[in-house]
Order: sequence, then C-alpha cells, then structure tokens
Amino acid sequence: MKVSIAIDGPAAAGKSTVAKIVAKRLNISYIDTGAMYRAVTWYCVTNGIDCQDEAACSAIISNVHIDLKLDDTVWCNGTNITEAIREPFVSSQVSYIASYKDIRLEMVKQQRAMAADHSVIMDGRDIGTYVLPDADIKIYQIASIETRAIRRYEEDLEKGIQTSLEEVEDELRKRDYIDSHRDFAPLKPAPDSILLDTSYLTVEQVVEEIINIVKKKMGEE
Ligand code: CDP
Repeated sequence: MKVSIAIDGPAAAGKSTVAKIVAKRLNISYIDTGAMYRAVTWYCVTNGIDCQDEAACSAIISNVHIDLKLDDTVWCNGTNITEAIREPFVSSQVSYIASYKDIRLEMVKQQRAMAADHSVIMDGRDIGTYVLPDADIKIYQIASIETRAIRRYEEDLEKGIQTSLEEVEDELRKRDYIDSHRDFAPLKPAPDSILLDTSYLTVEQVVEEIINIVKKKMGEE
C-alpha cells in the first residue's frame, strides 16, 4: 500500500530527526525538502550571488542539480554538500531563497516527482498545504523556541559549528518569521494536520506517536 506522510513545522522542531527514523521503520523514502532550499542557497553563496537579489537567484535555478541520496547525503552538481548546507552562511540566507516563487515552483516540481510513485515521508514547511495536499497523514510538529534553540545549538556543537545559544535562537526566530510571512506557500499548519508538540517528548516518543498515527490511519482504510 502506498502511503504519503507530510511533516511541517518551524525551524529545528526535530522534523528531520524523527522523519529519518520513521522512514527506516516503515521502509519508505525520506525526502528532506529543506536540504533542497539549502542546496540552492549554497550554490548562490559559493557563486557570489546575493541571496537577497530575487532575479539573480531565480536566474540560476536551472544550473542547480540536486541529488538527495539514499544514504542521506546531499549533492549539488556532483559535489557532496551534506555538511556545508548546515553551516551558518547557508542557514542565515536560506529563507530568502525559499521565499522566491520561481525557485519554489522548481523545487516543488521535483518534490512531487519524487513522491509520485512510491511511499514517502517528506518534511518541510509547505508539504501538507502545497506540495502534497492529498497526503494520507499530515503532522505539524512544534516545540517551544527555547527547546528548539537548545536542540539546534547542541546539534551544531556536535558538527563542530561554532555559535552561541543566543545566535541560534535569533536565527531560528528570523527564519520562522520570513517562512511564515512570505507570499507564496508560507509556513502554516494544514487545516487537516495533527498538531504534535514535542517540547517535552523524546525522539523515540515522537517516532512512536507518528507510527501509531500512521498505523491507525492506514488500518482504517
Ligand atoms: O532543519 P531546519 O528546521 O533548520 O530547516 P530546514 O528544514 O533545513 O529548512 C531550511 C529552510 O528552507 C527553512 O527555514 C525554509 O526557509 C526553507 N524551506 C521551505 O521554505 N520549504 C520547505 N518545504 C522546506 C524548507
């Protein structure tokens, strides 16, 4: 049976961490749509294109060939950019890139193609509202800003990225603001989504919750 699961929510709510585990448990594909916007941002920054110049960024979109591999590595035009796209020089610019309609239309086309003929769990900002409006299960995953900032700060430390908790929190707030106020496909819960507040839940508890939702929903059909 084909199943499509959409997970949306603000920055660093733990979507990708749980989505990866759920994908493995259910033996379905995981698609990290945020990595795609990060890849375009990486391309613009490394090619000296101003990420706040919509026309210049939109003009290069056909030069950017993104490959999300099964081992969760991210490639752009043959370069492994898995680690680079988590760096602050990308995180601080990605929400500008993600607000440009022509760039989104191209990313969404690729995302829908990836979900067309097999089961997927896809995480992002507009999956339940725009990319896969007919997804079988829609989760809107949230956590308090304090929790999200601590989680991301600790992840950054593990990756050797130098920041402060204050800088991380500021960046998350800024991205959430831009992501939820853009004109095209902004961050917001789909009306038929299930709200999952993970502030006081462990990763394993969130995974269990999602798998139970999937089993219940798919068992009903
Ligand atoms: O992992 P984190 O929550 O920090 O963010 P991400 O999922 O890697 O997404 C990075 C950025 O890409 C977001 O802040 C959005 O600006 C953008 N994005 C989007 O607009 N639409 C999506 N479907 C996924 C990400």
